[in-house]
Amino acid sequence: MGFPDNFLWGAASAANQVEGGWNEGGKGDSISDHLTSGSRESKRRFTRIIDSGLQYPSHEAVDHYHRFREDIQLFAEAGFKAYRLSITWSRIFPLGDETEPNEEGLRFYEQIFDLCREYGIEPIVTLDHFDMPYHLVEKYGGFTSRKVIDFFEHYCRTVFDRYKGKVRYWITFNEINFACLPMGNLEILGIYDKRTTDYTDPYDDPKKRYQALHHVFLASAKAVRAAHEIDPENKVGCMLSHVTFYPLTCNPDDLLLTQSTDHTFNDFCGDVQVKGEYPWYMKSFFRDNGIELAFAEGDAELLKQGTVDFYTFSYYMTNCLTTKEGTEVTAGNLLGGAKNPYLETSDWGWQIDPKGVRYTLNKLYDRYQIPLMIVENGLGAADVLNADGTIHDDYRIDYLKRHIEQMELVVNDGVDLIGYMVWSATDIVSSSTGEMKKRYGLIYVDKNDDGTGTMNRYRKDSFFWYQSVIRSNGLIENQ
Ligand code: BG6
Repeated sequence: MGFPDNFLWGAASAANQVEGGWNEGGKGDSISDHLTSGSRESKRRFTRIIDSGLQYPSHEAVDHYHRFREDIQLFAEAGFKAYRLSITWSRIFPLGDETEPNEEGLRFYEQIFDLCREYGIEPIVTLDHFDMPYHLVEKYGGFTSRKVIDFFEHYCRTVFDRYKGKVRYWITFNEINFACLPMGNLEILGIYDKRTTDYTDPYDDPKKRYQALHHVFLASAKAVRAAHEIDPENKVGCMLSHVTFYPLTCNPDDLLLTQSTDHTFNDFCGDVQVKGEYPWYMKSFFRDNGIELAFAEGDAELLKQGTVDFYTFSYYMTNCLTTKEGTEVTAGNLLGGAKNPYLETSDWGWQIDPKGVRYTLNKLYDRYQIPLMIVENGLGAADVLNADGTIHDDYRIDYLKRHIEQMELVVNDGVDLIGYMVWSATDIVSSSTGEMKKRYGLIYVDKNDDGTGTMNRYRKDSFFWYQSVIRSNGLIENQ
């Protein structure tokens, strides 16, 4: 009973939220380099041209590009067994369509992987975390073009070859099901329509969007095939934002709405990537929305050949759905919903639901019967750095503890859960709001929203708490 000995305890980050060094080392600009900072009250903006008068938080982020040694040393001190990070595609291929890779970019990640190995930390590497080279957006319309599938495959083959033996766990696209929402146009698919004025509410052509998503599925399948060919030891996973929904009431209409939203948002992408074919329920969705996908010869076979080895997802909160109008709503990761009267919310309005993770893991294992990994789970909060360098984030410890307790029950239920990554390792730039103030890290970074701060790192109370969780392999009742 309890967590298996080889359980992968760790934490995660994404390149665009930690690295900075946006135009160093031969890197090209990527989509995230065009997103301005914002806050809960004011939206982030997307600008096609980088405007020197605006603030783009990815440009400096928390300077992991220059401080990765210090950061990884802290991860080792916390006892991480694994560290999930992403490679910036445009560090390896600055424009995205070149034949020859950028050696300096390759060397940067090689140093990171070597250091992780030195400390016995298993790197878990996301190939695309909202980070396509921007040139591919402007020149090819992102994944609307099938050419971008080949560019992605070339990038993947390059890193699989180079890091053979250094990296064994790969993830293709972060939160791929974001593409099921209009806002996923830019960050997952690389589609920007000139009629868009607000990138969070973009001009949307669902036919184009789902066709581009089909190309992303093919790109992912090609990556899986290449990874296995280059090194049979490689394991490749998919990654979804699984937003578990409950019907707000026992009205059958609420239940039906929940079931169909679950299908089209939570299940669809995983079904394609795990089972290798489009699920039956998408036929009626496509028919009802006037979408006809263009399948080229060989696409169906490729999807079958490129099924993933494990399923990963982010889990922060749950939401409720109802057909009744005028109910109180609340925010969430990618999707909001109706307020659940039984749950508390974070300062950013995300509902905290530890028991929901038990339900979700059971559901996913039931559906897929392959190893599962939680690659993002954590609490965004406005932490306070005290004068003596301490950060008392007992609310985060409480959040993490209650989720880990439920995970233990799941493992005891017999679910094959192989790892857990806290979001995030250090503080990061928030993806939705572009601010520093929404802190997730186990390690505090002294950087403020206006760009000031020393960038010094400080261990939060949650850092020490998680260290003892890892040491005892999850026996948190004794902590
Ligand atoms: C996920 C992303 O959507 O949620 C992360 O994969 C992101 O990149 C995380 O940081 C938390 O969301 P946010 O918007 O609070 O940063």
